[in-house]
Amino acid sequence: MAFNNVYKGKKVLVTGNTGFKGSWLSVWLNMLGAEVYGFSNEIPTTPSMFEVCNLADKVCHRFGDIRDKELMNAYIQEIKPDFIFHLAAQAIVSTSYENPFDTITTNVVGTASVLEAIRNITWECTCVLITSDKAYDNVEWIWGYRETDAVGGKDVYSGSKGAAELVIKSYWKSFIAAMPNIKLGVGRAGNVIGGGDWAKDRIIVDCVKAFSQGETVEIRCPQSTRPWQHVLEPLSGYLTLGWYLYENKSENGEPYNFGPRAEQTKTVFELTQDLAERWSLDKNKAAKITDNIPFKEASLLKLNCDKALAYLKWHSTFHYDQCVNVIADWYKAYYLEHEVDMFGLTERQIAYYMKEAAGENLDWAL
Ligand SMILES: NC(=O)c1ccc[n+]([C@@H]2O[C@H](COP(=O)([O-])OP(=O)(O)OC[C@H]3O[C@@H](n4cnc5c(N)ncnc54)[C@H](O)[C@@H]3O)[C@@H](O)[C@H]2O)c1
Repeated sequence: MAFNNVYKGKKVLVTGNTGFKGSWLSVWLNMLGAEVYGFSNEIPTTPSMFEVCNLADKVCHRFGDIRDKELMNAYIQEIKPDFIFHLAAQAIVSTSYENPFDTITTNVVGTASVLEAIRNITWECTCVLITSDKAYDNVEWIWGYRETDAVGGKDVYSGSKGAAELVIKSYWKSFIAAMPNIKLGVGRAGNVIGGGDWAKDRIIVDCVKAFSQGETVEIRCPQSTRPWQHVLEPLSGYLTLGWYLYENKSENGEPYNFGPRAEQTKTVFELTQDLAERWSLDKNKAAKITDNIPFKEASLLKLNCDKALAYLKWHSTFHYDQCVNVIADWYKAYYLEHEVDMFGLTERQIAYYMKEAAGENLDWAL
């Protein structure tokens, strides 16, 4: 009974449901027996996980702009969700350099618009708002950031996430903390990878597009490290946070970090080679290094996840190899084996992840 069955039969609204994480979350909630509702402004990529998995048939979806607070409010009042997961955002760093103003309004005003709608909720509702590890003021030190560290952001995307955190905190302190019917938590996670992502400037996407056409992938910053984690890791964290808040097992109004195991901090080059190997390619010919860095991105950012372990009994599940394997399996099925039911494959990968988590005795999976 994953997550103590709290999502079964519940109305769950996912903003940003057509995106990468939103699509995986929708499939998972569907498996958990939830009635899934979505709100997004568009289908952000072609192809997209949303379309490949035919999620329009499984989710009650509405198109709209998250910044339109009247629309957001009306939609929430119409559905009366038991849970809200807010993921809608302009999530691409390079786009934040092209459209800084749009990034700020979507990520900051968009979050305020969701909070405005939450203020008008009169029924019991549990809300999990998603920001990012980039919300932290990155002082480029070697230690993992803790939830008590300062938020900030030297580039526009990071700043928009730091600002979203401040907006959430001020709404919480000014209004929502005094609402006995609302539970609220914040999820902060870093770079995620997984099947079904086609967003630009993401290394896995570049790899699988190149590999599927028998080409070499071009990589910049081969030695830059990222704490890679499968998309199911933060999603299990968000779902655990929702469950714990719902059952009053967790402090209300608190942020939580959800990060990978320390061993998963590999270089871009290592990840590319490992993925190529799993694709049955010669790993030494898989990548061409261009060293062309078009914009400044903050380096090295690790999360300290002790709080999630102590209070939510959560830690990440997959080892690095498992993570690379399931990603390669997903994209190989899409690119090389036509006629595959990608929704079914995604469900099987979620079931596998849940089984592994149960094997690790994680509270949420038992
Ligand atoms: N993918 C990552 O590595 C990562 C890392 C840390 C945090 N996050 C955060 O997780 C969340 C989801 O990320 P993702 O990778 O799925 O992003 P994505 O780009 O794949 O999806 C973004 C979603 O938001 C929607 N959206 C964008 N602008 C909107 C607007 N103005 N109105 C309504 N909807 C809008 C899009 O339609 C889409 O559904 C975001 O908040 C992102 O910042 C992602």
